[in-house]
Amino acid sequence: MFRSLNDKQSQRSLVNLTINGMLVTAPQGQTVWAAMALAGETTTRLSPVTFKARSAYCAMGVCFECMVEINGMPNQQACLFEVKEGMAVRSQKITEQTSLLTSSEITPSDAISMLAENVGGHHG
Ligand code: FES
Repeated sequence: MFRSLNDKQSQRSLVNLTINGMLVTAPQGQTVWAAMALAGETTTRLSPVTFKARSAYCAMGVCFECMVEINGMPNQQACLFEVKEGMAVRSQKITEQTSLLTSSEITPSDAISMLAENVGGHHG
C-alpha cells in the first residue's frame, strides 16, 4: 500500500476525480499516478503481449508502463498528468491486440498466433 510522504499536501486545495469509477479527492498538482496509488488502484493498463496487469515503473515519463484512459482519451501517461477537478481516470484495458479482438472477427487463438508471428520476427 502506498502513502504520501508529503505532509504539505493537506495545505493544497483539493480536487475531486474518479478513478475506475471510485470518487477520489486529491491535492491539486498531484500526479494521476500518485492519486491512483494512494487510492489503491495500481493497475494502469494490460500488457499487449501477456494481457497481464501493468503498473507505473519509472514515474518520470520514460517507460510508458503507466498509460491510462483520462476523460475517454487512451494512452495518457498517469505519471505526467496532474489531477484536475472532475477528471475521469480508468485503467486502460484496450491494447492494440485487444482492440483487434473487439473490433473484428479475430478469435483469441488468431490473436495469439499473430502475436507469436510478431514476437518471432519476420520470415521471408
Ligand atoms: S511510469 Fe514510466 S512513463 Fe509513467
